[in-house]
Amino acid sequence: MPRPPIIPDRVNILLVGGGGREHALAWKLKQSKRLGRLFTTHPQNPGLAALARPMDAPFSTKEAYRVAQFCIREKIDLVIVGPEEPLAEGIADALTNPDVLVFGPTKAAAMLEADKAWSKRLMRSSLIPTAEARFFKDAKEAAKYIRSREETESHVVKAAGLAKGKGVIVCKNGPEALDAIRRMLIEREFGDAADEIIIEERLEGPEVSVFALTDGRDLVILDACQDHKRLRENDEGPNTGGMGAFSPTPLMNAKLMNEVQGKILVPTIDALRREGIEYRGLLYAGIMLTPAGPKVLEFNVRFGDPECQTLVPRMKGDLLPLLWACAAGPGALANADDVEWDSRHSCCIVLASPGYPENPRVGLPIEGIAEAEKLPDIRIFHAGTTLPTLGKSESSSESRGRAPGAPLTSGGRVLNVVALGSSLREARDKALSAADLIQFEGKQVRRDIGAKA
Ligand code: AMP
Ligand code: GLY
Repeated sequence: MPRPPIIPDRVNILLVGGGGREHALAWKLKQSKRLGRLFTTHPQNPGLAALARPMDAPFSTKEAYRVAQFCIREKIDLVIVGPEEPLAEGIADALTNPDVLVFGPTKAAAMLEADKAWSKRLMRSSLIPTAEARFFKDAKEAAKYIRSREETESHVVKAAGLAKGKGVIVCKNGPEALDAIRRMLIEREFGDAADEIIIEERLEGPEVSVFALTDGRDLVILDACQDHKRLRENDEGPNTGGMGAFSPTPLMNAKLMNEVQGKILVPTIDALRREGIEYRGLLYAGIMLTPAGPKVLEFNVRFGDPECQTLVPRMKGDLLPLLWACAAGPGALANADDVEWDSRHSCCIVLASPGYPENPRVGLPIEGIAEAEKLPDIRIFHAGTTLPTLGKSESSSESRGRAPGAPLTSGGRVLNVVALGSSLREARDKALSAADLIQFEGKQVRRDIGAKA
């Protein structure tokens, strides 16, 4: 096997993505002695703009050659891809060359997240524990299947494609499943993402997010965390991308992690290798701890958001060489240092726009970030914020009466407030105190992040 490349003394990086996850990664990378120049594809995000230089052209996977040209011109050594869409569209395939490494899997490997039917078949063929599932493209066939089951049976109906975390409908009974089938295959509410659907048995149990860094052969498993996907407290309301996360989680211990590694993570990397796919990047397994053991709910091919924001502040040591090693390929990770963790607890609270997740309102002025940042053990990551362009916003009625230059909301999830504490409760209380100092109209916050733990 060829030897993996050697890490340069100074690594020039292009970080792809513009949310809180990428701000957290940039913040951590900035602390690395190895960092050369850091570029961002999303300088509209003031958090990223403060840490990284802007890429000089708009980022588009459709015009990946422009990104490739930029990488050559700026002598980029490593491209780190945050979100799943560019990976599913093949950005890693388009950019990887002898001089540029990419942290993030190829298009074929990204199907693990982008095609849930393919992913399910891969799991099945390798006996990786996951929910039983059927696949349908035809609404009548799907309905016939549901009618053949007990009316009281619970099902989970999923769009096979990427649907921004919204393509999963958990159904209490047959009629709800029939309704979900109609929405996906007939009304086409989820567009092409639901050309094919998966109907799964509904599993029961608590959920954990497990992250493994991999160079395609070896794995480095990160501390487990827990996300809160529902919009409202007590796990009510619609599913979102995630309203808060914490780590570590009392649900995970060394024995269980060994089981997850041996029955899920390693067999998945091996199954991919058998398909001729070398997975380089972060493998995220959403796992349900069922009475019959851990089972996969889904795979994602990138760091979780907001899980990344809760993990990174607890990570001691240098993240850059680890990401480099994953991108460098088989053999590189074996030489990298282990990750050490701050033993404190971390809690990340998401501040979301009014109307999120269906219809987030943007352009609302945000106050109090600087005050919140002054509190001890607090980190604030920008997710959906932007700085006003003078003139346009100064005349808008919503921006009147606020400090000049205060950021505006520009997306659904606006800010991530992360706190460290000696207990989870302390971390949450600190994060809430900081979150309370930040104001914008209609702010949505879950105050119960980690409460069940
Ligand atoms: P996913 O995007 O596949 O992780 O699904 C989103 C959420 O739907 C998960 O976090 C679970 O809460 C729920 N979910 C997905 N699949 C199942 C399943 N088979 N049984 C029970 N809940 C599920
Ligand atoms: N927080 C869940 C995700 O990133 O998919």
